[in-house]
Formats: sequence, structure tokens, C-alpha cells
Amino acid sequence: MSVTALVGAQWGDEGKGKVIDILAEKSDVVVRSQGGNNAGHTVVVDGTTYKLRLIPSGILYDNKICVIGNGIVLDPKALIGEMNEIKQSGKSLDGLRIDARAHVVLPYHIELDGLSEKMRGAGDIGTTKRGIGPCYMDKAERSGIRMCDFVDPDIFAKKLRANIEIKNKILTDVYGGRPLDYDTVYSEYKEYARILAPYVTDASVLVYNAIRSGKNVLFEGAQGALLDIDVGTYPYVTSSHPTAGGFCIGTGIGPTLIDEVLGVCKSYTTRVGKGPFPTELENEIGDMIRQKGGEYGTVTGRARRCGWLDLVILRFAVRVNGLTSLAVNKLDTLSGIKQLKICTAYRRNGKIIEDFPVDISELDGCEPIYETLDGWDEDISGVKKFDDLPVAAKNYVRFIENKLGIKVAMVGVGPSRDQNLIK
Ligand code: GDP
Ligand code: IMO
Ligand code: MG
Repeated sequence: MSVTALVGAQWGDEGKGKVIDILAEKSDVVVRSQGGNNAGHTVVVDGTTYKLRLIPSGILYDNKICVIGNGIVLDPKALIGEMNEIKQSGKSLDGLRIDARAHVVLPYHIELDGLSEKMRGAGDIGTTKRGIGPCYMDKAERSGIRMCDFVDPDIFAKKLRANIEIKNKILTDVYGGRPLDYDTVYSEYKEYARILAPYVTDASVLVYNAIRSGKNVLFEGAQGALLDIDVGTYPYVTSSHPTAGGFCIGTGIGPTLIDEVLGVCKSYTTRVGKGPFPTELENEIGDMIRQKGGEYGTVTGRARRCGWLDLVILRFAVRVNGLTSLAVNKLDTLSGIKQLKICTAYRRNGKIIEDFPVDISELDGCEPIYETLDGWDEDISGVKKFDDLPVAAKNYVRFIENKLGIKVAMVGVGPSRDQNLIK
């Protein structure tokens, strides 16, 4: 039996979906615990690309239980759309479960996300506009509608009516937007509730019993450590906890039940949305990485900002997640770059900084300190064993291991299940 948690170690989009899909083969239960359809996890199986947003990436196997935990904010319309895509691809939804405590994203959350971003003007966060922040705001304010409320038509009607009344005031009086019509929203969403009701359960009990009975359980992180609302690059973060502790809160299990925490990173760094990025490459190397790595958002299609690998960030990810090992994806993308740089620390006002700064205003003055490593020319996407990689590619991975003092357990050389080298 093993309980493994998988987290993004950077700013999201590290290739978590691919690694989850690989690990899911040997898992009985796969669990998502935070975020919502702001996540976009790409999985390539036998040449077919799946883009999962709310459903755990284990769904592509027939016999896995796939849990949407209590920490998720769930857009019912988006989930039903995704369920239909899964069905159309011939996969079964029998294993899907939704925790009764998960909060429901409603149209006013999506409206408010867009309007508040607009009002921030140049100071916007660059959210995915999926209503994530406003839904978590309602959760914290204790006015949220949970799945257990949603699937009860009378309770849903009562709570929705009360919420729409207040949200309409905010939409119109604060933001100058248009009010929502209660009857229209209710009649559309009560139908979604009817469709989702059979999947709703107490997932905390389900996951706990699975662990206690010796099953293999895999926690699938969304986003990445630097997007964590507490320890990330606030305010340029998401509204949940993508760090390992988020699995406990977002599933209703205790930390002593988790055996391993695997961090997933890319062999370079990317970020979507606004906020500081010390190793960003706003030049032809950054453009080349973006093109070759296909660095365009899965959810919004936005071009991802690209830069050199930053070990200050990964050191932070090791610390805040208690990582036990690392998977390094997209090593293939770096092929052909003559000299590769890795940031090992920052320099600020003549001082060396090794721990990621708390306050993002400090990051502005941080100049990355780089070590330069030899690149390699070979296309490595067909390599099947770590030992068969070019020497320079092996050295690049070993450099990461030595500097972080953590084992690199997997190396990605392409998007498919079989383009993953186990070290
Ligand atoms: P996630 O959000 O962490 O699951 O990552 P995304 O799916 O948003 O973005 C990762 C992208 O990289 C996807 O297009 C994957 O198919 C792709 N990918 C994952 N691992 C590798 C790899 O090792 N090499 C290459 N070339 N692409 C990869
Ligand atoms: P996956 O799971 C990358 C970013 C947004 C924005 C900030 C806040 O695919 O790695 P939000 O809509 O969450 O309020 O936006 O967080 N963001 C992500 N960036 N990958 C993700 O998920 C992200 N989910 C949110 O771009 O900067
Ligand atoms: Mg993604």
C-alpha cells in the first residue's frame, strides 16, 4: 500500500497530468483536493490528447475511483461538459465521486471574477476568469453553496435566491454590471444538480477507508507551490492551497496518512498571468522554449512566460511541501540550446539570497546568479533509459539533484506515457 501526493513545484503547468496518469496505473484511488477548472492537465495516451480540468487524471483507466474532494470549487456546467467529453471518448465515469462539501461555482462567481479583474486595470492578477477566487471568497465568508445544498432542490432554491439578491447589488452598484435573473439560473442549475447528484458522497470516509484497507491512493495537485494563497507570490496567486498540506484540508484526511510527496517541475520555468519572474527570458531563447515546448495555456490559450530553471524556487518547493522526490519534465525541450543556465541563488543589494523572498517587492531587485552548463544537440524524445541520455543531459539532471539534495525519480522526454524515464 502507498499514499502518494503529487504537487506542482513551480507556477503550475509542470506536466502534473502526465505524471499522474503514469502513476495512476498502479493506484486504486486518485483524488483532486483543491482548485477548480482553472487547472488544465494534459494527458496523451496512444496519440490522443485529453485535457482534464476538474476530473482527476486517473479517469483514463477503467477501474479507478476518481475523487473530487471537499477543497474543490466545482463549476457544474464545466464538469458536465468534461464528463460528456470523457464519455464520448469511450471512457467510463463509473469511478467518479464528488465530495458533498465541495463548493459550487455559480454564474455570479464567474461574472465577479471578470469584473473585479477589469476594475483592477493594469494591476490585474491575470486570473483564468473561471470564478475561482469569488467562490473561495464565499466559502470563507460562509455564504457558499456546497454540493450537499446543491443537490437538494429546496435548499438550493433558498440559498441561491438569497445569494443572487446580494450578488446583484454588488454586480450592479459596485461594478456597474448586469444583474442575474434568479429563475433563469435556478432552472438551468437544478438540472445540473440532478445530473451530478448520483456522484455525491462523503469522500473523506471513502479515501480514509481506502487507505486503511491498504489501497494505493494518489493525490493529484493542481496549480503549483508559488500559486499557493499563503506561501506563494501573493497577490499573484490562486485562492487555494496547491502545496502538500492542501491535500489534508481538501480531502479531510490527516497528514500522517501520506507516505510520499512527489514534486513535478519542468527543466525550465514558466508562468501564466501577472507577477514577478526572476529568470524570465524575454528574448529569442524564451521564444524558442515557448515554441518548442508548446507553452500556451491549456485553459485560456495564453502564451506562457518562459525562463531558465530556478533552484531558489525548487528549494522553496522542497521546503513547503516536504518533497521526498522530484519528477523533471520537458528535458527534450532544451535540446539544441548550446549553453544552459540554472539559477542557484539571487543577489540583492550585494547580498546573496538562497531562500525565496516572502515579499514580492523584494523579488524586483533580485538578480539571478547563474551556473552555466553544456547543452546537447541530440533529439532525446525517443530515449527509453536515463543512462542512454547524452552525457550533458544526465549532468543537467544530476546538477539539480546535487544542488537540491533530493532524488530526481523521473525525467520526462515527451508528452506521452512512454516518454518518461524512471531513474
Ligand atoms: P499540468 O497542468 O501540470 O498537468 O501541465 P499542462 O498539461 O498544463 O502542461 C504541460 C504540457 O507539457 C502539456 O502539453 C503536456 O502534454 C506537455 N508535457 C508533459 N511532459 C512533457 C515532456 O516531458 N516533454 C514534452 N515535450 N512535453 C511534455
Ligand atoms: P494547472 O493545474 C498555471 C494562475 C492564473 C493566474 C492565477 C490566479 O494547470 O497547473 P485563478 O483563476 O486561479 O484565480 O488565477 O493563477 N493559475 C494557473 N497557472 N497553471 C494552473 O493550473 C493555474 N491555475 C491558476 O494564470 O495567474
Ligand atoms: Mg496546466
